[in-house]
Amino acid sequence: MMKRVEVDGARLLQSLADFAAIGATPAGGVNRQALSVEDRAARRLLTERALARGFSVFQDDAANLFIRREGRDPGLAPVLIGSHLDSQPTGGRFDGALGTLSAFEVLEALAEADAGTLRAIEVVAFTNEEGSRYAPGCMGSMDFAGASAIGAWRSVVAPDGARLEDELAATLAALPQAAMRPARPPPFAFVELHIEQGPILEREVVPIGVVTGVQGTRWLEVSFTGEAAHAGTTPREFRKDALAAAADAIAFLQATVMPGDAQARLTVGRLVVEPGSINVIPSHATFTVDVRHPDHQALAGLEADVRAACARAAETWGCTLSIDRRLDMAPGTFDPAIVDVIEKACRRRGIASRRMTSGAFHDALFVSRAAPSAMIFVPCRNGISHNEAEFVTDDHVILGASVLLDVVRELAGR
Ligand code: GLV
Ligand code: MN
Ligand code: MN
Ligand code: MN
Repeated sequence: MMKRVEVDGARLLQSLADFAAIGATPAGGVNRQALSVEDRAARRLLTERALARGFSVFQDDAANLFIRREGRDPGLAPVLIGSHLDSQPTGGRFDGALGTLSAFEVLEALAEADAGTLRAIEVVAFTNEEGSRYAPGCMGSMDFAGASAIGAWRSVVAPDGARLEDELAATLAALPQAAMRPARPPPFAFVELHIEQGPILEREVVPIGVVTGVQGTRWLEVSFTGEAAHAGTTPREFRKDALAAAADAIAFLQATVMPGDAQARLTVGRLVVEPGSINVIPSHATFTVDVRHPDHQALAGLEADVRAACARAAETWGCTLSIDRRLDMAPGTFDPAIVDVIEKACRRRGIASRRMTSGAFHDALFVSRAAPSAMIFVPCRNGISHNEAEFVTDDHVILGASVLLDVVRELAGR
């Protein structure tokens, strides 16, 4: 019979509060964007706590941070658990932090109970999951899974002017106590606990989502170039209005894409207009498009729809058009055996669960290309995330971490 090991709920809640203080915003959220000073402070705190516990700390070229508790057979591939510590600029306290800090709580709980595992367990905080400061998101997990090396984005510049290369170097240098991670085989398994970031679990009053896959995402940056001209003197036929073209395209896409396909998602999250003067016809309008779909073909169709709508709008307004694809994540399916282990862990604890597909992308999507992976979701209030109001009940935090602990013990072997 296995020794009862439980997470320390009070310690985990305190840890979430401690990290929420790093980059805290007045409205109760966090702004801890990737590779920022705040991100570095969070990494330092986690590293200090890990070293104090006697765990080993490593980082890799992409500044992914790893905390390792050795198993009885150090030669076996480890079980990897974790998420990310970076946030959106107006992010919540749980997106990423819940999975990372719960994973660390699992290590602490095992250490405190002196409960060994056959395989080592590694906690990971992946670099730049959000992609808000440096697009694309999931850079760290892409690098880890061999999908793309972090060096590919070396010269990407943040809206604040900082180059990724410089911020990455400063972040690595901020943790002199962390050794460079030796080359290791892919993990035996990866499990990421996360908030659902949508309304389904709360609506159905189901405390645990067992995630079977992630829908696909593409990010596009659309730029219309027209001609700046006088607002009062320029007749319609002379106007090359970049914002009017952008507005036409956006209005058309919002009126057609989601109404035409209940599974499709389309978001224009950023619009920059130049020169940005009340009485000057805009010469430039650049906007981002985030499209998502669980079906890969349908996702490609959404990109084609965006391109066609923008081309028509450019023609209508005499503008030139350029479209850059900034991210292309194919939908992914998680490992059925790990999905089973999560479901069984819920059953053993007498907790209801339901299978679901993730609407958000996650590091686990990339890790799943290199190692068997799956995710555990807990509900969040009103399904709200990427918002400072993001909220998860204490009970759901502790339940999610408890299921993670059981799953990890099962996968790592006793
Ligand atoms: C990740 O934050 C996403 O946008 O799905
Ligand atoms: Mn996240
Ligand atoms: Mn997020
Ligand atoms: Mn995310």
